Amino acid sequence: MNNLYDPRKRVLITGGAGFIGSHLIDRVLSQGHEILCLDNLFTGTKRNIDHLHNHPRFEFLRHDVTFSLYVEVDEIYNLACPASPIHYQRDPVQTTKTNVHGAINVLGLAKRLGCKVLQASTSEVYGDPAIHPQTEDYWGNVNPIGQRSCYDEGKRCAETLFFDYHRQHKLPIKVARIFNTYGPRMHSADGRVVSNFIVQALLNQPITIYGDGSQTRSFCYVDDLVDGLMRLMDTPESVTGPINLGNS
Ligand SMILES: NC(=O)c1ccc[n+]([C@@H]2O[C@H](COP(=O)([O-])OP(=O)(O)OC[C@H]3O[C@@H](n4cnc5c(N)ncnc54)[C@H](O)[C@@H]3O)[C@@H](O)[C@H]2O)c1
Repeated sequence: MNNLYDPRKRVLITGGAGFIGSHLIDRVLSQGHEILCLDNLFTGTKRNIDHLHNHPRFEFLRHDVTFSLYVEVDEIYNLACPASPIHYQRDPVQTTKTNVHGAINVLGLAKRLGCKVLQASTSEVYGDPAIHPQTEDYWGNVNPIGQRSCYDEGKRCAETLFFDYHRQHKLPIKVARIFNTYGPRMHSADGRVVSNFIVQALLNQPITIYGDGSQTRSFCYVDDLVDGLMRLMDTPESVTGPINLGNS
């Protein structure tokens, strides 16, 4: 709810104490808006938002997105969800709940407020893809019962909910399918290739080459990803996505 006399937006970022969320917060604050950062600190940490402790336009709410919430905001970015396999497989039932109940809760909130809501989806919705590179019209190849399904299928179901709220309730939605992102504040022990390389290099250990060394990945720097998320949020209402965000 924009205050009648105040042009600033009040922006809710779920998962705001995480790697990407904390960078998004820095950028939105730099544009003069207010931030409500919601996080249960499952993989996120207060260290990522320590520098904002006394910021007059920043507020932190320790809350689990699987429980409903009543706040007044103008825009929502839904990032709450552990992103790396070692984190999301630790409690797979909670991962599905975070994706599905979390989506239901932020969509319900957005519907009540009539505000825009952006979902941080993932390239993992393409599963073990049969085509390369994946375009947004590819439906994916996902195992519904595997160890990664809590994340992949959870994110797919969240996308379904976003598009059903859009079709059924005319809710303004945006869906970003994020590819591998790296940068400051990423988890050093998340088991992913960039963090492994960096930690091994810092410890003067040999760098692990996966497979026969011919594997490829797309890596996007976090500042560029944040740029993409904010530009997507600012698109006209007719633009819903899904939009792939990453590096070629
Ligand atoms: N980092 C990547 O390369 C990447 C790739 C694709 C998609 N994404 C998506 O982007 C988003 C952010 O990823 P990240 O890399 O910053 O991960 P992250 O683990 O650093 O951040 C996720 C944040 O969500 C919080 N969280 C988890 N469950 C929650 C719950 N139930 N209630 C409230 N907060 C909860 C965590 O505490 C953490 O702060 C995620 O939704 C992830 O799926 C990330």
